[in-house]
Amino acid sequence: MFAKKRKVAVGSIAVAGVLAVTGCSGGTTAAPTGSSEGDRGPITIVQGKDLSGFLDQTLADWNEEHPDEQVRLIELPESADAQRAAMVQNAQTKSDEYDVLALDNVLISEFAANRWIEELPEDEFDLDEMLPPVIETATYADKLFSMPFQSDGGMLYYRTDLLEAAGIDGPPTTWDEMADDCEKILALPEAKGVSCYTGQFEKYEGLTVNFTEAVNSAGGHILDADGNPDVDNEGAKAGLQHLVDWFENGLIPADAITFKEEESRRAFQAGELVFHRQWPYQYALANAEDGSSEVAGKFAVAPLAGLDGPGTSTLGGRNLGISAFSKHKATALDFIKFYAGYDQNRQFLDLTGQAPVYAGIYDDPEMIEKYPFLPVLKESILGAIPRPKVVAYGDTTMAIQDAAYSAITGKATVDEALAALQQKLSSIIE
Ligand code: GLC
Repeated sequence: MFAKKRKVAVGSIAVAGVLAVTGCSGGTTAAPTGSSEGDRGPITIVQGKDLSGFLDQTLADWNEEHPDEQVRLIELPESADAQRAAMVQNAQTKSDEYDVLALDNVLISEFAANRWIEELPEDEFDLDEMLPPVIETATYADKLFSMPFQSDGGMLYYRTDLLEAAGIDGPPTTWDEMADDCEKILALPEAKGVSCYTGQFEKYEGLTVNFTEAVNSAGGHILDADGNPDVDNEGAKAGLQHLVDWFENGLIPADAITFKEEESRRAFQAGELVFHRQWPYQYALANAEDGSSEVAGKFAVAPLAGLDGPGTSTLGGRNLGISAFSKHKATALDFIKFYAGYDQNRQFLDLTGQAPVYAGIYDDPEMIEKYPFLPVLKESILGAIPRPKVVAYGDTTMAIQDAAYSAITGKATVDEALAALQQKLSSIIE
């Protein structure tokens, strides 16, 4: 476990030493001692598309207080892979266009090891208020390189109306129970055209998430306790076999092979699914009463299902980092403190329904009333297993996607896919 509130070794990386003395928390602060005025000025924050409109208000609030240090949003495409590609390219060309990066939490090791992001002064952040698995994603080599502002945990969305119509009194905890429930539900006249289950199975980062969830939910693993590739195990086989079987028998519909988060969200909201593995961002959208969702008021969420009991989520989320090529790192640090602070994080949940990073927000009665999924989400995140924390994450996830995709599309058997994956991971991860 990463030590909290440990003092940063001043000077180990220039900016951490310099910025550690700013001691500010989002208000207007003097230029840090030892740095020039040049460390301050306009900045950009780069992240995936803001579908909520939340950021407009947040950035306007900051800009009003900081007329000479305005922040501008640069929006990247929706898929996690496209976001990574843009950020890697920006770093490789040493461009100063991006100042604050909203990085998928799996990318911290890669960006830190390549010195594409700066070490942060950890004693200036309230890390001990955060959910422990979330803090773990923020570090590299036991040093803080990013500040989480959004977490993510998978949950099982299910149609309460259909379960009730079939006389089923609660959501399933195992895959077999889910299959039994679907057999009953899909026989009902009101379930015409409905499929049992989907997650996200297009060949992209979401497939890595869904595959690792299946593996972990069957008691398997990708890496052993020492971090070495060890994917040719019984649990991993059972997890992947489950996905293969459900594609074969139609419990997962064939078009799920084209689903990222937004495609599967639309299918669930069109009333085409009984069960759906999804992140929390869908909850408010699926409950919208403006005609965009057929299932408003007709669903609830539960923990993911697994082989012998409740399943295990893969940990998602995003962390803020400062680009090594930013010209205004002091402003970038102040902005991160503001944007990832407790109050903004509570507002972030309030306005977007996305998972906050501070434990206390999950226990806030007002928020639970508005977002009843918070207790389930908190458990999902606390029990979540991170994806491999490795420097060569791009190659690692590509290898995982290749293996999972070849099995679920019937191009390789489960044994072949996992043997090939083990071999590839052994050559990628030292
Ligand atoms: C969500 C998660 C992120 C993950 C992505 C996969 O955005 O927060 O961690 O990589 O989904 O599609």
